[in-house]
Amino acid sequence: MTAPNRDKFSQKRVIVTGASSGIGLALVRQLDTQGADLMAIGRRAASELPPDFPQIGYQSLDVSAGDTGPQLVELIAARGWDGLDLIIHIAGIGHCRPVADEDAASIAGTVATNCLAPITITHALAPHLARASGAVVFVGSAAHKGASGFPVYAATKGALAGFARALRSEWRGRIGVQILHPGPTQTAMHDRAGHDPGRLRALFLSADDAAAAMLRQIAAGRSPQKTGHGAVLRMRAVRMLAGGR
Ligand SMILES: NC(=O)c1ccc[n+]([C@@H]2O[C@H](COP(=O)([O-])OP(=O)(O)OC[C@H]3O[C@@H](n4cnc5c(N)ncnc54)[C@H](OP(=O)(O)O)[C@@H]3O)[C@@H](O)[C@H]2O)c1
Repeated sequence: MTAPNRDKFSQKRVIVTGASSGIGLALVRQLDTQGADLMAIGRRAASELPPDFPQIGYQSLDVSAGDTGPQLVELIAARGWDGLDLIIHIAGIGHCRPVADEDAASIAGTVATNCLAPITITHALAPHLARASGAVVFVGSAAHKGASGFPVYAATKGALAGFARALRSEWRGRIGVQILHPGPTQTAMHDRAGHDPGRLRALFLSADDAAAAMLRQIAAGRSPQKTGHGAVLRMRAVRMLAGGR
C-alpha cells in the first residue's frame, strides 16, 4: 500500500494563489518537494518572501484587482505551458468584526479577494485546464456555513462553496473541481483578521499538516472535503500502514 499522492504532482503544471504565507506557503513547499512545476502567486513583493522560500517561479499579483485571469494567461504563455494541470485558489482575507463595524471598501475587498477572484480566474483559465484535463481547487473554510464574528468572510466562503458545487456538476468528466474547507489553522490570518483565538490557538492545525491533508484530498479528487484533525489523523494512519511513506 502506498500513499496515493506520493507521485501525483510530479511534473504537473500547478498555479497556487496565496502562496506567500500560511497554508499556501506550506503547500508550495510540499508540491516543490514532490516535483511539481510551480507558479506561485502572492500579493507581497518577491523581496518580502521568507528567506527559505522555495526556488520556484513567484509572481506578485493583487487578485482583488480584477485582471488576474488575463495576467495568468500571459504568464502561462511565457512559461511555454500548453495547458494547466491544477490551480489551487488559496488567497484569502477576512476581518473579525460585526457587520455594523465594517466599511464598504473592506466588504468589497473581501468579496473581491475570496470570491470574485477565484471565479474570474477560473473562467479565464478554463481553456488551459480543459486542454490538460486539469483540475481546479477552491479553498473555502469551515466558516462557510456561517461563523459568528466573521459574517462577510463566511458569506464569501459560502458563495464559493455554491460556485464549486455547480461547476463540479457542469465540468464533470472534463475538468476536476473541488472545494476544501480547512478548519482553524496556525497562520498569520488570525492576527491579520483582528481575531485572538486565545488558548484555542494551541488546538489549531499546523499549516504543514493542513497542507499535507489537503494534498491528499486533492489527489483523491473528492469534494467537498473538511480538513481538520480527523483528516490529519487519517493521513498519518495511511502513511504508517504504507510503511512510513
Ligand atoms: N488559517 C485558518 O484558520 C483558515 C481556516 C479556514 C480557511 N482558511 C483559508 O485558507 C486560505 C489561506 O489562509 P492562511 O490561513 O494561510 O492565511 P495567510 O497566512 O494570511 O495567507 C493568505 C495568503 O493570501 C494572499 N493574499 C491575500 N490577499 C491577496 C490578494 N489581494 N492578492 C493576492 N494574494 C493575496 C496573501 O498574500 P500576502 O501575504 O503576500 O499578502 C497570503 O499568501 C484563505 O483562503 C483562508 O480563508 C484559513
